[in-house]
Amino acid sequence: MSKISDRLNRLSYSQTFVMSNKVREMKASGVDVISLTLGEPDFDVPQKIKQAAFDAINENYSHYSPVPGFLELRQAVADKLKRDNNLDYKPTQICVSNGAKQSIINVLAAIVNDGDEVILPAPYWVSYDEMVKLVGGTSVFIETSIDTDFKITAAQLEQAITPKTKALLYSSPCNPSGSFYTGEELEAIANVIAKYPDITIISDEIYEFINYDGEHVSIASFPQVYEQTAVINGMSKAFAMTGWRIGYSACPDWLAKACDKVQGQMTSGANTVAQRASITALKMDPQELQYMISEFHKRRDLVYGLMKEIKGFKCNLPKSAFYIFPDISYYLGKTLNGTEIKDADDFAMFLLENAHVGCVGGVSFGSPECIRFSYAASEEELTEAMTRIKNFLDQF
Ligand SMILES: Cc1ncc(COP(=O)(O)O)c(C=O)c1O
Repeated sequence: MSKISDRLNRLSYSQTFVMSNKVREMKASGVDVISLTLGEPDFDVPQKIKQAAFDAINENYSHYSPVPGFLELRQAVADKLKRDNNLDYKPTQICVSNGAKQSIINVLAAIVNDGDEVILPAPYWVSYDEMVKLVGGTSVFIETSIDTDFKITAAQLEQAITPKTKALLYSSPCNPSGSFYTGEELEAIANVIAKYPDITIISDEIYEFINYDGEHVSIASFPQVYEQTAVINGMSKAFAMTGWRIGYSACPDWLAKACDKVQGQMTSGANTVAQRASITALKMDPQELQYMISEFHKRRDLVYGLMKEIKGFKCNLPKSAFYIFPDISYYLGKTLNGTEIKDADDFAMFLLENAHVGCVGGVSFGSPECIRFSYAASEEELTEAMTRIKNFLDQF
């Protein structure tokens, strides 16, 4: 009998970490590897935000905060949601957590009973399926492909709904595909969900600001689903604050109270110094962050241009986030240099071992025919990585 619980045994390790650990091992043994595996901005935290953290320490923000966060921070979140998304929330509807990841699991823990279904459009962020399992739910996947820019339609969604459906969980902008849903597409999704008042939409908008080709729309801005939507966002991606661990949810009153209850028994309020610094961050004019977005935009164009030249890679221009997600089905089922390539994870490992470039296979994102590269890396690294892959694959 396993000492580990059945609940935990159902979970997998994240493929992102499997690949980044392998990269670390190879580097330690002297191999020159370029890693494009991890999803975090390679910028420093803006100075103003750092200063606010120093001030918070000096002002002795060293005690527990309220479970859902300092009122001033929740007000700053509400103001941000009004300013950027035209959404009306009271501070009591906001719950600040240790990252968006915790915000999502708070919501899932609050609504999912054993055996309830959560719809995940594939590809999805690796943690979603594992979080659903952790709370005793079952994921129901909706397949998409590169031909539809990895987006679902309202008709597909309608078909996936059953009497057991409790939630729809997705990210827009999307990790890993880099696609985002337009206002029109979201309205069609909202119209479907509005017919089922017991279904909650969990809308992960953590990449909101990293958007090159259009306007970010939050599905909560459609009044027919406002009462059914949990908006998830946080400081990690837009402010390069991944290690500071601050995220938040904005929910209808009943769900905000439930998130507060979950978090109160699990972790209490998030780190107080990071909370204080986040007030300053959220009050910044988004224009002040534009230098990071412009840099990602340049890299997106660079990597897309180079990737189009790689044999057997089919890719769409990603419009947001900092990932590119080529379809590599050309190589599936082939044996290359004696290695059988059954799925995208095999192919990612094959590239790492032979071309010395790290990426993540799409199996755990729900797309076994794609691989994910993060372009949160320097232009030199990106150029060198794409050149290595091109030169290596040209031989097949
Ligand atoms: C789609 C998505 N949601 C949430 C997160 C987690 O964000 P946080 O650092 O705020 O927990 C990530 C991080 O990679 C992500 O890609």
